[in-house]
Amino acid sequence: MASVPSLAATVHQRVANALSAALPEAGSVDPLLRRSDRADFQANGLLALAKKLKGNPRELAAQVVGVLDGSAEGAGRPADDVVREVEVSGPGFLNITISDQAIVRTLAARAADARLGVPYAEHPGTTVIDYAQPNVAKEMHVGHLRSAVIGDAVVRILEFSGEQVVRRHHIGDWGTQFGMLIQYLIEHPHELDHGDEGEVSGEEAMSNLNRLYKASRVLFDSDEGFKARSRDRVVALQSGDEETLALWQRFVDESKIYFYSVFDKLDMEIRDPDVVGESGYNDMLDETCRLLEESGVAVRSEGALCVFFDEFKGTDGKPTALIVKKSNGGYGYAATDLSAIRDRVHNLKANTLLYVVDARQSLHFRMVFETARRAGWLGEDVRAVQLAFGTVLGKDGKPFKTREGETVRLVDLLDEAVDRAAVVVREKAQDLTEEEIAERAAQVGIGAIKYADLSTSAARDYKFDLDQMVSLNGDTSVYLQYAYARIQSILRKAGDTRPAAHPELALAPAERALGLHLDQFAETLPEVAEAYEPHKLAAYLYQLASHYTTFYSECPVLKAETRAQVESRLFLCDLTARTLHQGMALLGIRTPERL
Ligand code: ARG
Repeated sequence: MASVPSLAATVHQRVANALSAALPEAGSVDPLLRRSDRADFQANGLLALAKKLKGNPRELAAQVVGVLDGSAEGAGRPADDVVREVEVSGPGFLNITISDQAIVRTLAARAADARLGVPYAEHPGTTVIDYAQPNVAKEMHVGHLRSAVIGDAVVRILEFSGEQVVRRHHIGDWGTQFGMLIQYLIEHPHELDHGDEGEVSGEEAMSNLNRLYKASRVLFDSDEGFKARSRDRVVALQSGDEETLALWQRFVDESKIYFYSVFDKLDMEIRDPDVVGESGYNDMLDETCRLLEESGVAVRSEGALCVFFDEFKGTDGKPTALIVKKSNGGYGYAATDLSAIRDRVHNLKANTLLYVVDARQSLHFRMVFETARRAGWLGEDVRAVQLAFGTVLGKDGKPFKTREGETVRLVDLLDEAVDRAAVVVREKAQDLTEEEIAERAAQVGIGAIKYADLSTSAARDYKFDLDQMVSLNGDTSVYLQYAYARIQSILRKAGDTRPAAHPELALAPAERALGLHLDQFAETLPEVAEAYEPHKLAAYLYQLASHYTTFYSECPVLKAETRAQVESRLFLCDLTARTLHQGMALLGIRTPERL
């Protein structure tokens, strides 16, 4: 189905046309239309224009109103034209009121489309998105939560816009720490055996890895011989020794069991072929360094291969350098990321590279992007963006830690959120079985965590406060989920009476406000996709639920006076539910039919 132009877009066009009709010499002018409390829309663009033309803004406005009025009543125009009323206000604003019919007709067109009339992006391309990148043999923490939650929402939003999306989970699966782990496993060969029971749970996998990590660390710090053997093991790993690689693979596999269990809890689909960790670029590292050195982009400095920048200053205010190859010959994080860029641009044909990574890695990415530009790997036609996110804080406003000062395990947080949600669900539950309560609790609890993360702009830090997150009042996912479930219950109660648009009926103020907001969905999503700003979608949905709440308290639905009115209000209910459902789905949040 074709996209449905929003009322704002239609009005924008009408005012722009009226402007050029009234003032042909002005050329094309942006009427600067925005939603307004006074009327439905206000156009502010005439002020600047009048100033530019040294005219009187109120006079200019009156001229434009003349043209618009003419078009509203003029020959050949349908009597139900979009604009019902235009008036000049203040120093030269236009206050524009839309006709009720136009609102209902536009909404009916949205309702007839599976995409609710939301347009596809005008110029879709290929985005490679780097997100949900935990580290092998390490516990996941809240930082990994943010990358996963934000990344997942951005993937859904971009795909909905028609963009081709390639997902890359750049897991930390390489590095010197594996020397110690593998050496330990060689000397304690049964430590990762799964015995007869075969499959282990994610929790068990992680606790196996933790135990091994701790034990090998102790040995590494206390036993010089083990330390030396571990270092040799790193060399064996890097030179591709088969036995060593096979053992390394066991750590990766064991970690994946754990990762997948966490992503599963997060109700998030991560596909195995998309997991291309640091090790996936090993074969390219030599060449990456050679190309950088040959082109002079990188130079030798104290034995290391470095790229220097005057433009980026470190925390000490001094110009920084990106180390691509260490003086001991080892490759670092930067060499891998540079190789990944080559792969993503040349093989995956990315137009956009997106990195959902902690803001504390911003300097790294600035240097990596600039290096890739200098090397010619990132041409002008490719955008590279770090969607940098802030830190998750505890209630005390400091980075989120346990009382003992340790990083909080992500699984513990998720479990606690689900437990809290179960309390909330149970309180409200009337006809739910225990099984249903558990299912809803997961949807509510995980939704709450995701929503809290997505409803503040990614760049900002936010406080992790479960009490607030599962609260029924305020800007929470539970509030949105209840609004959705309430609508579903009304639709069930309506029985045979089906929702139907009735453009002939006049709208109550709360219906108008809800209707105009519903229409805005089609403008909100492209903006959200364009700027990678899921928080604006969250804000939109929250406002939608608030408009609905007002509508619900002011306009009886099933008890409305006439059958047509009942159908018309059911229509608004239904479209609200579908919009909520679609919007929440794009944030990765479920909308249960009953709560
Ligand atoms: N594994 C890293 C971490 O836990 C994040 C990886 C980010 N992606 C990248 N291409 N460097 O901090």
